[in-house]
Formats: sequence, C-alpha cells, structure tokens
Amino acid sequence: MEIVMSNSMVETASQIERRVMPDKTLGQIVVDNPRVSARNVDVFYGDKHAIDDISLDIGASQVISFIGPSGCGKSTFLRCLNRMNDTIDKCRVEGEINIDGRNIYDPLIDVVSLRARVGMVFQKANPFPKSIFDNIAYGPTIHGLASSKVELEQIVETSLQRAGLWEEVKDRLDQPGTGLSGGQQQRLCIARTIAVSPEVILMDEPCSALDPIATAKVEELIHELREQYTIVIVTHSMQQAARVSDRTAYFHLGKLVEVGDTKQVFTNPKHELTQDYITGRFG
Ligand SMILES: Nc1ncnc2c1ncn2[C@@H]1O[C@H](COP(=O)(O)OP(=O)(O)O)[C@@H](O)[C@H]1O
Ligand SMILES: [Mg+2]
Repeated sequence: MEIVMSNSMVETASQIERRVMPDKTLGQIVVDNPRVSARNVDVFYGDKHAIDDISLDIGASQVISFIGPSGCGKSTFLRCLNRMNDTIDKCRVEGEINIDGRNIYDPLIDVVSLRARVGMVFQKANPFPKSIFDNIAYGPTIHGLASSKVELEQIVETSLQRAGLWEEVKDRLDQPGTGLSGGQQQRLCIARTIAVSPEVILMDEPCSALDPIATAKVEELIHELREQYTIVIVTHSMQQAARVSDRTAYFHLGKLVEVGDTKQVFTNPKHELTQDYITGRFG
C-alpha cells in the first residue's frame, strides 16, 4: 500500500540534513592563517569512541569556544591539542594535529616542551603548594628561560601584570599561592601558563567555579590576551562564548557538528542540533 503524505508532512532534503548528525562538519573548518590544524582526529577510551573524525583549524590570533552538552567530547578534544590524553590509560588518539606546521604526535616531539607551547588552564584553579613568586618562576626555571635572577624576576612581574594580578600581589609574592581567592588563583594559573611563553592557551571551563566578578576579570583577561595567543576555551555558558570568542564550535556525541563565526553560530546556526542547544532545548 502506498502511503500518501500531504505536502506539509514531507520534509525537504535540507530539513532532514539539519535534523540528523551531519557526515561532515557544517561551516568553515579551514582558516587562512592556522596555528593549529587538526585532521581526522579520532579518540578512543578502550572501546569507547569519544571523538569521531574531527577536523578543525584554529587561527593564530583567535579565540575559539567549544560548546555542547556534557560528555560530547569537548575536554577530550581539547586535551588532544597538547597530548594531555597521553597521561590517560587506555586512551588512543588517531589522526593528525599540526601546530605551526609540525605534527605534535610525531614520536620525535618533546612532550614537555609541547605542553609549555600549548599551555592549559583547568576548571579548578590548581596553584602549586608554593609561594606566588615560585608558582610563576617554576616553569621558566625548568625550561631554562631566564639566565639570571633579575631576568627571572622580570618574567614573574610581566606574567603577573599580563594576567592582571600584579597590583594585587606585588607586596606578598612570598606568600602561598593557595592563600589567594578563587578568582585570583585562576589568574595566577593563567600567569603561570603565560610565563613560559606559550603560543596556544587551552582553557577547560576556567570560570565555572568563579563568581560573576571573578569571571568578568578572567573574560577581560582573555580579551587582552587574544592578540598575542591562540586561545581555546571550553565553556558551558553561551553568554561567555558569545562575549569572548571569535569562532564557536558545537560538539555533539563526539562529532563536531558545526563551526563558524560566533555571531553566525548564535544568530543563524546551520544545524538544528546547534539551534536546539543554543535555545536551551537540551544541554
Ligand atoms: N578518562 C576517561 N576514561 C574513559 N572515558 C572517558 C574519560 N574521559 C572522558 N571519557 C568519556 O568520553 C566522552 C567525552 O567526555 P569529555 O571529553 O569529558 O566530554 P565533555 O568535556 O564534553 O563533557 C564521555 O562519554 C566520557 O564519559
Ligand atoms: Mg569537559
């Protein structure tokens, strides 16, 4: 028997394309001046396929937000960018990730210096149990970035200034970093990341443990750092993504559904899954 549908019930091809998971990421994955270029990245935790064939460029002086429901793979993909997944048992990464034209999964890459070039800031601020000064001085010291005490002091001061923390801590550099407020500790961790002159800064929900005032300070800081660094930020706050990022990438069940200019993604998403997420239908 033939099923006859009225015209209004027939979905157009483009409606169907919007509803199902796309085979290919919608939007421009390629940028003109990429600092990071990921191609066909898959990540497995044992049998679990956590990242499914993601390709994405990230521009040199650009802030990109990763958004999507929890468990969709944002942190996993972020950790691919400085090989932090190497530290997780049973985790296997496939595909290619180039940073400044070099494959970071090349066995000849020195992972310690990679993680200085691609620094990471976590959801929960994690200062070392050391003084404020030593929190910042530690990285430059182990990477041999300062040839004298004066130079080291200069790096510490500059890093704290860039992180907008210098005025608040300059008179108590010898006190423990863990004694600072939550927002100050997060800016201390950002200063610590900056101190080793990274090219890329990865931030995994850096404000989710902070109050609105501390969040505003970190966002202001991201705004100032954008000219000098490539910044990737995972956030649950769509307002935050809209405020701080040039591009936004929407993840869903391990796939990169859509990427585009932040304004376009929020005002005119190409995929229905993106639309449902940003309008709060799920998340
Ligand atoms: N260390 C791990 N071991 C096993 N599975 C993991 C691990 N980390 C994440 N996963 C799984 O991978 C998927 C993606 O997780 P994650 O990257 O943390 O998502 P998100 O950051 O978007 O919330 C989830 O199904 C999660 O359960
Ligand atoms: Mg996460």
